[in-house]
Amino acid sequence: MALTAYDLTGRTAFVTGAASGIGRATAALLARAGATVHCADVDEKGLHDTRTLITDAGGSARAHLADVGDSGRLREAVQAAGPLHIMAAVAGIMHSSPVLETREEDLDRVLAVNFKGVLHACQAAARSMIDAGVKGSIITMASGAVDAATPGLLCYSVSKAAVVQLTRTLAAELGPYAIRVNAVAPGWVRTAMTDRHDAELQQKAEAAMVRLSPLGRVGEPEDIAHAVLHLASDASSFTTGQILRPNGGVAMPW
Ligand SMILES: NC(=O)c1ccc[n+]([C@@H]2O[C@H](COP(=O)([O-])OP(=O)(O)OC[C@H]3O[C@@H](n4cnc5c(N)ncnc54)[C@H](O)[C@@H]3O)[C@@H](O)[C@H]2O)c1
Repeated sequence: MALTAYDLTGRTAFVTGAASGIGRATAALLARAGATVHCADVDEKGLHDTRTLITDAGGSARAHLADVGDSGRLREAVQAAGPLHIMAAVAGIMHSSPVLETREEDLDRVLAVNFKGVLHACQAAARSMIDAGVKGSIITMASGAVDAATPGLLCYSVSKAAVVQLTRTLAAELGPYAIRVNAVAPGWVRTAMTDRHDAELQQKAEAAMVRLSPLGRVGEPEDIAHAVLHLASDASSFTTGQILRPNGGVAMPW
């Protein structure tokens, strides 16, 4: 007898940050599971490559050039996708500076993408699901940074902590519509965001994370995509307001 809980055939998914890394792997996996996937990003070339990756594998994808910080443009793209079943709000940026050197514009820039961008995606998706009466699933992208106090990561970790609170609040508000809202908080994953552009530095950074992981490795985008698939699918039908931590068991002790 076939296992159907992970089958997304006939569902429409929207993935932000789909031009690279975790977003691209998520879009590709949701398409493999049968969903029609709408990909949004500010990177036109990366978006094109993701769409080609999906369609070449026999999947269904559309690309939307959209900045998640622009609520109007994002709403337009979500509306164009038709009734949504799944939103994966993955787009994000990194910023690193010590607290005493952090400028207001740094904080504003990071919050605009990492928090407001996720808020805009959640709002647009929730409106689409409520209007169409869809019992959908919204997945936000937090980070292991919310479980630690990492020097230099104030802006980033504050933005991700805000995503966690948004996720819980929205889960409470949307439960009566049977819409589920959960966050994924990955550990270190090999993507453009964690690429140190220097082999030695990269090895050092990854070795530090590997030492902290009982599994003895860093993450790959596909590890996180599978966590998103779980939350997007009927396999997690009784799960809402949760933070799933695919991080190789890293406890973030500092
Ligand atoms: N890589 C990691 O170790 C790691 C760990 C924890 C959380 N995350 C989170 O996972 C998400 C994806 O990160 P990644 O590692 O795949 O990085 P990435 O840099 O490979 O991908 C991020 C994508 O977001 C897009 N993006 C950035 N600003 C945007 C905007 N304003 N509007 C639309 N798209 C925009 C980028 O163009 C890019 O395609 C982020 O939210 C990140 O904070 C990553």
